[in-house]
Amino acid sequence: MKYTYYGHSCFLIEVDSRKILFDPFISGNELATHIDIKSIDADFILVSHGHGDHVGDLVEIAKRTGALVIGAYEVVGWAQNNGISNVHPMNFGTYNFEFGKLKFLPAWHSSMLPDGSYGGNPGGFLLMTNEGNFYYSGDTCLMMDMKLMSRYAKLDFAILPVGGNFTMDADDAVIAAEFIECNKIIGVHFDTFGYIKVDHNEIKEKFRATGRELLLPKIGETINL
Ligand code: NI
Ligand code: MN
Repeated sequence: MKYTYYGHSCFLIEVDSRKILFDPFISGNELATHIDIKSIDADFILVSHGHGDHVGDLVEIAKRTGALVIGAYEVVGWAQNNGISNVHPMNFGTYNFEFGKLKFLPAWHSSMLPDGSYGGNPGGFLLMTNEGNFYYSGDTCLMMDMKLMSRYAKLDFAILPVGGNFTMDADDAVIAAEFIECNKIIGVHFDTFGYIKVDHNEIKEKFRATGRELLLPKIGETINL
């Protein structure tokens, strides 16, 4: 699998030559001005919740690429109201897509669309594919539900927020990594705003100290997993 980071909580995962984009928010991110959103291709767009820092570029990228937009019923409904027709609404549950089995799982957070409409419940995603399994928690604090992960899948890697204030910080993400039984974590949701600035070396060391690895790819960087 290939992972490309587009800043904040936006990333693209290529699995079996299918491109899956998560939480598109780029043009509003001061740290990602070097990313041309027109260069981003996607077959699927997965949206964890309705906040602007997760759906900011959703409508534009979905319109241009024709990607299938997957997310909470209410978030997908908002996309439809904004002219997106290729959608797949979910609530917490499991469905088999072309790329593999997807579980939409709860997150402890909130969800409201940029126009103020109700976003349903915020969530995270577990993807089980031919090339491996991974979990993206979305915006959440640490939660006991994460202990269920090993009942569902053996994870190859997980994408967790590490910025604190609105989500888990690195200390809680280390515990989350223990709960989901995963040693390779990719950090998201840090540095974008003043409240969530982190010291990269310091938070990497917190993971290293527990025998785990925290990866913080640069914005625009692609890594192989
Ligand atoms: Ni949020
Ligand atoms: Mn957020």
